[in-house]
Amino acid sequence: MAADLPKLSIYLHWPFCSAICPYCDFNVHPMRELQIDAWRKAYRDELRYAASQRPDGPVHTVFFGGGTPSLMPPDLVAEILAEIDALWGLAADAEISLEANPVSAAYQQLSALSGAGITRLSLGVQSLDDAALKFLGRTHRASDALEAYAAAREIFDFVSLDLIYARPDQSLAAWRDELERVLALQPDHVSLYQLTIEPDTPFHRLYAAGRFEVPAEDSAVDLYEVTQTLCAEAGLPAYEVSNHARPGHACRHNVGSWQGHDYLGIGPGAHGRLSDAHGRRATIATRAPQQWLQQVDAQGHGWAEDNRLDEVETQAEALMLGLRLVEGVAKQRLSQLGLQLDDGQNDKLAGLQEAGLIQLTPSHLVATPQGRLVLDHIIAELL
Ligand SMILES: C[S@@+](CC[C@H](N)C(=O)[O-])C[C@H]1O[C@@H](n2cnc3c(N)ncnc32)[C@H](O)[C@@H]1O
Ligand code: SF4
Repeated sequence: MAADLPKLSIYLHWPFCSAICPYCDFNVHPMRELQIDAWRKAYRDELRYAASQRPDGPVHTVFFGGGTPSLMPPDLVAEILAEIDALWGLAADAEISLEANPVSAAYQQLSALSGAGITRLSLGVQSLDDAALKFLGRTHRASDALEAYAAAREIFDFVSLDLIYARPDQSLAAWRDELERVLALQPDHVSLYQLTIEPDTPFHRLYAAGRFEVPAEDSAVDLYEVTQTLCAEAGLPAYEVSNHARPGHACRHNVGSWQGHDYLGIGPGAHGRLSDAHGRRATIATRAPQQWLQQVDAQGHGWAEDNRLDEVETQAEALMLGLRLVEGVAKQRLSQLGLQLDDGQNDKLAGLQEAGLIQLTPSHLVATPQGRLVLDHIIAELL
C-alpha cells in the first residue's frame, strides 16, 4: 500500500428488502424478480472502475449493507469477494460484515453466506416485544429473531444485534427489562438506535397527524443513560454514540470510516470517500436501482457525484465523525488536516471545555457523553 494513503474498505449496497418498514429512509426498494446476472455484472464493473480510481490495496474491511443483503444469493456474495480479492487483495484478517433481517436469516442461508466469506453478521432484531415489532411494521416476531440469533451464533464468530428504542410510550422500566434480555443473549456487539422520525416516511405522516408521540427530550436522555449503564455493566461499553461492544469487537469497518479511512461505495446510492495525490473525494452513486444498473451498463460505473472536498469540509467531517467515537479524534490527524488544537490556544476550545462538552487528552480531542449529543454545536464553535 502506498505509505501515505489511508487504509481501504469497501461498502456495498444491496437496495432490496422483503418489506419496507414505515420508519426507514435508507435507499430501499421492495424485492421482486431480479435479473440477477445484470446485478452480478454491474457490481463487478463498478468494482473495477473503483479500482481504477483507488488502486492500492489491500482491502481491510467489506460491509454488505442495505436494504437487506441477507437476501443476496450467497454465490453472488462469494463472486463479489473474489473480485475484490483479485482487484486489491483482501487482507488475511479482513472483517467482512453483512446485515441480516431475521426473516431472511434461516440456518441454511446464513451457513451459505458464511461459506461465501462473511465473518460478521449484524442482525436486525429491533425489539424483543411483539407489540413493538408490530408497531414498527416488522414482519418478524421476537421468537423469529431469537431463532435467527441462535443460528447466527452457531455459524459466525462475531454477531451484532440492532435495536430501536425510545419508541412511543416506552417506559424506562420496560426498556431496561428489554435491554437486559438482549444483553443476556451475550452478543458481541449491539447497535442501539433511538427511533428517529425521518422526513418522507409513513411514520412522519402518522407522527405529523398526531397518531403517536415519541418520548420527550428529557425522557430520551434518561433512556440513553440507562442504555449506557446497562451495556457497560454487561461488558459491552459504548465505543460510539449508538454502538457498544465487548473489548476487541468494535465494528472495524465503521470505526475506520469514522477515523477517516477510505471506503469505496459500490451499488445504488452508496457513498464513498477516497484519497488520491490531490486530496479527498466524496462519491455518491445513483439511488434508483434500475437507473444505477443502466448507468453502470452505459459507462462502467454509477457514481453520479464525485467531488473534491476542500480543507474546511475535510476538517468538519473529521471532527463530526471522529467525535462520535468515545476515544475521540487523534490530534495528529487534525493537525495533518491543518487544524491545530492546543490547550488554551483559542477561547472557543476553552469555552467548550468549561461547558463540559469536550476534553483534550495528550493525544486526542474527546467529546464528553453530553458533548456527543450536541456535536453540531461543537463543530460550529471549533470551525
Ligand atoms: C439497513 S438496516 C439493518 C438490516 C435489516 N435491513 C433489518 O432492518 O433487519 C439498519 C438499521 O438501521 C436502524 N434504523 C433504520 N431506520 C431507523 C430509524 N428511523 N430510527 C432508528 N433506527 C433506524 C434499524 O435498527 C436497522 O436495523
Ligand atoms: S429497516 Fe431494514 S428491513 Fe426495514 S426497510 Fe430499512 S433496510 Fe429494509
